[in-house]
Amino acid sequence: MSDIIQLERRIQELMTLWDAAKELNSHLELDKVFDHILQQMMHVIGAEAGTLWIADAGGQHLQAVSAFGPAASEILDVKMPKGQGIVWKVLESGQAERIGDVSMHADWNERIDRKSGFSTSSLLTVPLIVKNNQLGSLQLLNKRGGEWFTEQDLRLAEALAHQSALALHNSQMYDELNRMLMSMIRTLATVLDARDPYTSGHSGRVANYSLWIAQKMGLSLNECEEIYKAALLHDIGKIGIRDDLLQKPGRLTQEEFQTIQQHTVIGAGILANMEPLHIMEHAVATARSHHERMDGSGYPEGLTGEAIPLFARIVGVADTFDAMTTVRPYSKGFTPQQGAAELVRCRGELFEAEVVDAMISILEECDYDLSTYKTERSYQI
Ligand SMILES: [Fe+2]
Repeated sequence: MSDIIQLERRIQELMTLWDAAKELNSHLELDKVFDHILQQMMHVIGAEAGTLWIADAGGQHLQAVSAFGPAASEILDVKMPKGQGIVWKVLESGQAERIGDVSMHADWNERIDRKSGFSTSSLLTVPLIVKNNQLGSLQLLNKRGGEWFTEQDLRLAEALAHQSALALHNSQMYDELNRMLMSMIRTLATVLDARDPYTSGHSGRVANYSLWIAQKMGLSLNECEEIYKAALLHDIGKIGIRDDLLQKPGRLTQEEFQTIQQHTVIGAGILANMEPLHIMEHAVATARSHHERMDGSGYPEGLTGEAIPLFARIVGVADTFDAMTTVRPYSKGFTPQQGAAELVRCRGELFEAEVVDAMISILEECDYDLSTYKTERSYQI
């Protein structure tokens, strides 16, 4: 290979590494990033096929989560039981393997070639390991041009595998933390709702309605997740209000009503103490402002129009609809049609018109039975 060609190849390798690092550090969907990196590696190193194997949650199988090459569709989703094949050997030893003639190798498992109809000759397999966490293996098959993979190919594959492993580890940690946070928020909301049999399930329903309205209004995935979290916690300040007041069957005195209104400020105070603050930023604003009304007649501050945070304007509609249509000590509850008519009556005056329109179209779509409503987007929170 001439010096110029070698230099060109080195530059291409570095660009692949730089590109991979940039992609892995962006917040794109990890599956797509891995697909792209695998394709780049195959292109730069010159391989006919490539597979990314990721360990399942129990660590008992390696599953092919990304595959390219002539038999990719046959390989995708194949599960390799623990201890079998070169992918497991490489992962368990932490040592990459570069194999010239695979048929002569003791750990070669022909099962996949038989299943896929692909004929493997040479192999390059590198482990994905971060801080003793065995995450998976990355495998390139058949060097193009009938050659074998080189030592330089191995080094580049190892560098890319290291970057990919770090990104995968971070993403798995983030998912785990997020799941933990969501389950704690759900538990808090359940504990709050359980105090009063009349409000059982209120926070959960308000969270669902708010999420659906947000989706209908075209808010981003991230905003939808944030509003769901904020809506679950909107009434958390009621923890600081006496039971006999919250559950009082008759009409409230002016003084009692003022005490109950304090749940907005108390809730914002509780959530503002949680760290890191930015995680609860929207929940604080929503707890504080979900009783504000567009014409300034709400509380605690009497904000008007767009001075009321968007999430609070949405949760305010969801909250009012659920309160109106639920049996309470002081009311037997509206039908969903009556609740919808009341929202329309207050459209633009108390509630933002666009939010009311979204709620009405949700109600119409499910024929006023919200328990049957199917969201437009496929994801679940
Ligand atoms: Fe409230």
